[in-house]
Amino acid sequence: MKKKVILTGDRPTGHLHLGHYVGSLANRLALQSDEAYDPFIIIADVQAFTDYYQHPEIVRQNVFEVTKDYLAVGIDPDRTTIFVQSLIPQIAELTVYFMNFVNLARLLRNPTVKAEIKSKQMGHDVKVGFATYPISQAADILFIAGEVVPVGEDQRPMIEQAREIARSFNQTYELVFPEPEGLYAEVSRLPGIYGNEKMSKSLGNAIYLSDNINELREKVMGMYTDPSHIDYRRPGKIEGNVVFTYLDAFDPDKVGLVELKESYQQGGVKDVLVKERLFEVLERFIGPIRYRRSELSKNPELIEKVLREGTQKTLGRAEQIMKKVRSAMKIHYF
Ligand code: TRP
Repeated sequence: MKKKVILTGDRPTGHLHLGHYVGSLANRLALQSDEAYDPFIIIADVQAFTDYYQHPEIVRQNVFEVTKDYLAVGIDPDRTTIFVQSLIPQIAELTVYFMNFVNLARLLRNPTVKAEIKSKQMGHDVKVGFATYPISQAADILFIAGEVVPVGEDQRPMIEQAREIARSFNQTYELVFPEPEGLYAEVSRLPGIYGNEKMSKSLGNAIYLSDNINELREKVMGMYTDPSHIDYRRPGKIEGNVVFTYLDAFDPDKVGLVELKESYQQGGVKDVLVKERLFEVLERFIGPIRYRRSELSKNPELIEKVLREGTQKTLGRAEQIMKKVRSAMKIHYF
């Protein structure tokens, strides 16, 4: 049976954090060991440029850092093909063709893009490259005929846009593309360490997979709990208490966690005790990742090899699909 193509990826603008882990890395790990799938990961440097075009050195460095994060959490390059977006010219080509299928007003209604324009305070200086990145992301998915796209909830509008483009293209010319389906994570939105907002590099509220033990301890000890829990002997609240949200996501001892929650709600449990538990849970999770990461840092040739071979394999696949695209568009002249 033909394997289903999975396509997902990240912008290389910083190290990956726990939000990336629960939002998509965990899903990718589960899917790569399933024989029914053929997974690809795009390191979206071109998309990173829509935001970081003035900082090419940051994008470049993070292509390697993100690859280390992948390998350190257990993405296996023998099963999952990792490639670099800018090295696949077919994606740029497809983006241009796709632009004909997207209504401008529809494009600008994208809630994720709107939220980014606001949070990055772009005001009236929204660049065309930025506003149109959902089209380029549709090309990221469709150039390889991606069928399943494991992502966080914030990427839903991008998947929707990609589906619309695939449908319009297929209707206008001939059936070339599958309509990709988003696969949304169970715990898709991990809040940052100060609660409320999602975990994100730009908000400075992230715990990174590469944080050292002191950074981790400091961040956990500085986390928000229940702001009205001033006297530890009084009952504390679980809802909206970020420390418990993280324990829910990472503590393997579910029974112990239920007991702790009960005691906390009854009163008599100090916040620092709950934080100590979280610190230990997270260190047990991040410690081995940090170690593998530091080993990988000693071997830059290996990182380059993974990217070179992944990109090479992807180029071959891209050309097969682009042949169909060009023939459907009748631009296969000679
Ligand atoms: N937009 C995604 C993010 O910010 C990254 C990304 C780029 C992506 N191209 C993709 C995700 C294709 C899934 C599929 O996280």
